[in-house]
Amino acid sequence: MAPINSPVTAQELQILSTKAISAKDSAYCPYSKFQVGACILTSSGEFVVGANVENASYPVGTCAERVAFGTAIVAGHKQFKAIAVATNIKPAASPCGMCRQFMREFTSADFPVYMYDADGNHTVKTMGELLPDSFGPDDLSH
Ligand code: THU
Repeated sequence: MAPINSPVTAQELQILSTKAISAKDSAYCPYSKFQVGACILTSSGEFVVGANVENASYPVGTCAERVAFGTAIVAGHKQFKAIAVATNIKPAASPCGMCRQFMREFTSADFPVYMYDADGNHTVKTMGELLPDSFGPDDLSH
C-alpha cells in the first residue's frame, strides 16, 4: 500500500479532477441549483465520488464532500491521499465549515484539498490551512 501522504501524481490529479467535475451532474440540488461534485483518491489508488444531496427540509441536505467521505468509509477505505471539489463558480468554492470538520476526522494536516472552479482551474490548500487548531479523534484519548 502507498504511504498515506505520498504526493498525488499528475495522472492521479487528472483523473481526480475529471471525476469531481463530472460528479456535479449527479448533484440533487433542486432548491439551491448549486451543483457540487467531489472525488476522493484513496491511498490504495481508488476514486470515490460524491455530490450534494438536498432535501425539502433544507437543513437535512448533505454536502458533496460528506457524501464522498461517507461513501468511502462505508466501502472500507481508511486512508486517503486527496480530495477534489468542483463547483460552477469562480473563484473556486472551498469546503464549508461542517465539511472541514467532517474531513478532519479521516485526514492529516497535510491532506490536500483541490478546489475546481467553473473553468476547471484549481487552487489547493491543506486541511491544516482550512481548519487550523482543529479538534480531532486524538483529543478524546487523553
Ligand atoms: N455545498 C457542498 O456540497 N459543499 C460545500 O462545501 C458547500 C456547499 C452544497 C450544499 C448545498 O446543497 C449547496 O451546496 C448550496 O449551499
